[in-house]
Amino acid sequence: MTSNKTTRVARDKASRKTGDRPGRVARKKTGGAWMREHVSDQFVKRAARDGMRSRASYKLKEIDEGDKLIKPGMCVVDLGAAPGGWSQLVAPVVGDGGMVFALDMLEMAPIPHVRFIQGDFREQAVLGQLEQALKGRTVDLVLSDMAPNISGIASTDQVRALHLVELALEFAVTYLKPGGTLLVKAFQGEGVDDLRRQMRAFFETVVVRKPEASRNRSSEFFLLARGRKMPDATAATGGETV
Ligand SMILES: C[S@@+](CC[C@H](N)C(=O)[O-])C[C@H]1O[C@@H](n2cnc3c(N)ncnc32)[C@H](O)[C@@H]1O
Repeated sequence: MTSNKTTRVARDKASRKTGDRPGRVARKKTGGAWMREHVSDQFVKRAARDGMRSRASYKLKEIDEGDKLIKPGMCVVDLGAAPGGWSQLVAPVVGDGGMVFALDMLEMAPIPHVRFIQGDFREQAVLGQLEQALKGRTVDLVLSDMAPNISGIASTDQVRALHLVELALEFAVTYLKPGGTLLVKAFQGEGVDDLRRQMRAFFETVVVRKPEASRNRSSEFFLLARGRKMPDATAATGGETV
């Protein structure tokens, strides 16, 4: 793994992204067209009805229904958590015996039993705050729904998105318990095959998930990596470099 200090550079400060506004595609639509689609979206309506903060909640919900990721007592880290839809789902399941640490560069209104850290995950100081909050705990499940704002230049956007995935992977590899799980959002494009190869060095299985709530025309998908290998086992298969 390249050192945290060298990869976690405070470069390319992503401009802020709100809620679950679809990154990749937003540039093709006018603000009015996006808003019309958003208000008629079945998941937006469901979120309003269910009191969920984001339509993104239904992406995690569907993945969790199939893959049974979230369990009582777990320690979970939710990266790119605002406005809080994923943490809202996770906190009641992990319950009093578990912990949820949520992080985002945007503000997030409090959620009971969720410890929130506001900051840019690319910055070493922000990672330091998360490390401090963990107080030496190891983590069962790392979730990352982080996505950079879209510049409209495909190659630049893909580099920024991959950088966030790599940071989430680096964090997961460092803090997950052996056997732990990482669910991370990525975007189709250059570098994705390499990324999956990298992930396979650290996890027993790596599979793709594209839940229904993830719009078909969006290149977004999720990589689900299960069974964090024991660090020694990873080294034996030539891994331990993110
Ligand atoms: C799709 S939204 C997450 C939605 C969230 N999962 C939910 O259910 O409410 C993506 C989030 O990633 C955050 N983000 C993007 N880059 C980030 C970074 N470098 N550090 C921290 N958060 C970041 C954005 O601020 C945004 O809130």
